[in-house]
Amino acid sequence: MESEKRPDNQIQSDNQIQSDNQIQPDNGIKPDDASSPDHVVPKDEIVFRPMLMDDIPDIMVIEHESFTLPWSSDAFRNELTHNQFARYLVMERNGAPVGYAGMWTVLDEAHITNIAVRTAHRGRRLGELLLRQLMTYAWELGMIRMTLEVRVSNHVAQSLYEKLGFRGIGMRKGYYSDNGEDALIMWCDLSDRMTAEGGREGSETK
Ligand SMILES: CC(C)(COP(=O)(O)OP(=O)(O)OC[C@H]1O[C@@H](n2cnc3c(N)ncnc32)[C@H](O)[C@@H]1OP(=O)(O)O)[C@@H](O)C(=O)NCCC(=O)NCCS
Repeated sequence: MESEKRPDNQIQSDNQIQSDNQIQPDNGIKPDDASSPDHVVPKDEIVFRPMLMDDIPDIMVIEHESFTLPWSSDAFRNELTHNQFARYLVMERNGAPVGYAGMWTVLDEAHITNIAVRTAHRGRRLGELLLRQLMTYAWELGMIRMTLEVRVSNHVAQSLYEKLGFRGIGMRKGYYSDNGEDALIMWCDLSDRMTAEGGREGSETK
């Protein structure tokens, strides 16, 4: 999500997610689902994995095409090395990064910091796949709620969040410094959501 949160008040380096820990997608779409729209990207083309320092140049491309207040590469570097609460996933399609998402896990709440898909790959359910994966990851880490801020004008993102169970619960007035736009605060109860989808048991995210 586009966030005014700045990752500059972090604590200690502890984001050592193993680079060989590939995560299978959890898209809620069965591979043989005949009702899947043709434009939906086949599940076997997608791999999720933890973000690495080497990903930052690719992430910056996505960040700049996605947000009017993009994070700097230093901000991502800091997240990966100094923020023990930060977790970032990269979504690859046929080996190339096409999206990423991140969150801060604080007590039992996950705060989504960013989620974005490369412009050329949007509208093919990849954003949904990515958000589902992040929600599953948060649930497996013991989070029971997820929250985010989104521009009031960003109806595409709001529609995605609502589809996956997030609800608007308030506003942050003038949250975005570029144009003074308000942020809608959204929350999702993961225990309701994930229990309905099969619970913590049997998931493949590590
Ligand atoms: C928001 C974003 C991640 C969505 O990714 P995406 O891959 O294009 O979205 P998907 O194809 O997975 O669509 C999932 C849902 O999002 C919503 N959505 C996607 N495109 C939409 C559009 N053009 N108009 C309205 N809703 C749309 C719909 O609810 C859709 O579900 P549906 O297909 O059943 O209608 C992507 O648009 C993006 O990267 N935007 C820029 C960054 C951003 O705004 N991030 C969020 C900041 S809070």
